[in-house]
Amino acid sequence: MNTTVPASVYAQRRARLAAQLGAGGVAIVPTAPERQRNRDSDFLFRHDSYFYYLTGFTEPGACLVLAQGGQSTLFCQPKDLEREVWDGYRLGPAAAPQALVVDAAFSMAELDARLPRLLENAACVWYPFATHSGLAARVEGWLNTVRARVRYGALCPAAQNDLCTLLDEMRLFKDVHEQDIMRRASAISAQAHIRAMQRSACMLRAGEDVREYHLDAELLHAFRDAGSQYPAYGSIVAAGANACVLHYRADAAPVRDGELVLIDAGCELDSYASDITRTFPANGKFTGPQRALYDLVLASQEAAVAATKAGARFNDPHDATVAVLAQGMLDLGLLDKNKVGSAQDVIDKRAYFQFYMHRTSHWLGMDVHDCGSYVEPGEAGQASESKDPLSGETITNRPSRVLRPGMVLTIEPGIYVRPAEGVPEQFHNIGIRIEDDAIVTATGCELITRGVPVKADEIEALMRA
Ligand code: GLY
Ligand code: MN
Ligand code: MN
Repeated sequence: MNTTVPASVYAQRRARLAAQLGAGGVAIVPTAPERQRNRDSDFLFRHDSYFYYLTGFTEPGACLVLAQGGQSTLFCQPKDLEREVWDGYRLGPAAAPQALVVDAAFSMAELDARLPRLLENAACVWYPFATHSGLAARVEGWLNTVRARVRYGALCPAAQNDLCTLLDEMRLFKDVHEQDIMRRASAISAQAHIRAMQRSACMLRAGEDVREYHLDAELLHAFRDAGSQYPAYGSIVAAGANACVLHYRADAAPVRDGELVLIDAGCELDSYASDITRTFPANGKFTGPQRALYDLVLASQEAAVAATKAGARFNDPHDATVAVLAQGMLDLGLLDKNKVGSAQDVIDKRAYFQFYMHRTSHWLGMDVHDCGSYVEPGEAGQASESKDPLSGETITNRPSRVLRPGMVLTIEPGIYVRPAEGVPEQFHNIGIRIEDDAIVTATGCELITRGVPVKADEIEALMRA
């Protein structure tokens, strides 16, 4: 696996980053470590997203250093024909400068010897604080080697900064290459959802014993068949009441005629995630209560989509969702008007939280819950405090992020009805979420996941097919 994006694009990203490191800034970005699964089997290797963003390089055992002036040095696995017989091709340091347009490349074995030299006389060292456990100690070791040379005139960087703050901001705005990959990832995932829906209806019509894993198998087949490398996160395939478990994973529970199935699954394509949820009747036909809740969640999603546009705030789609859900919960009797009051009361008291306990959106990119500040930079100091109506805790509120073209977020309202006193029985154990991925544009947003229908009638039609 490697990148379909030209090497020059990664070089441009490195140059943009280097320009932000300040005079005398040096950046260190390792890829992810390989992780043991059990005995001599490793988990499937997934490169580090920051490292990939700057290199497009997917081999394990690598580290990028941007020296003062933006000079790029890649450390990578050395060529080793014997190891390559077992583990596969390695690019190697000799071929790396041309393939990745880096200025220099060396074996990882030289990292400890060369890094102190690259750090000598620098003013500041930047590295990701949050993602690589043990890296701070290694940096400290390299700095100690520099410090040991101060008597010979070497200067040691006096500052250490979190590289995530710069890279998170860059990654938050997806360029045309990234948007293109994300559209393609979304299209694959959309087809996968269609396959799973149709398999469910087909098997039930044939009187077969449908299990969650049958539908998971359809997702995996569709992902890999279209060239995606793997699921972007653990797929949720939740039949019936399992849909009310937010982080449920595809298991072996029966998919029953008359119940709903919630599938939250998306593929990763060339390092970019997609993230789709659809909820559908296992047999292809919604019951009355299922349809009532479904249409409410869809209406709340439509309100959120309308609120997703350049210039709006990140919280606006969530607030739009909650306004629709609050009114709907009263109208359907999930919440008792006589006890809770008006829709505004439902919002003020956070009474909707009983049935809608997660946020409506998150950033999406290389990581399914992608990086990027949710607070508007420059307004972070404008904090206000309020009391959470449910827990009584004091919460600090800061102005949420202003949406700009090129940001990508999910829009994923839901309703999850656990049996409880006063909750109409016809809704018990119904869990519904509808999730689409949106690219913010100048005038609104582009929903890139609508290759799978979302309207109840359209879902029923495709499941009849
Ligand atoms: N699939 C994870 C999420 O929807 O956030
Ligand atoms: Mn999801
Ligand atoms: Mn999501």
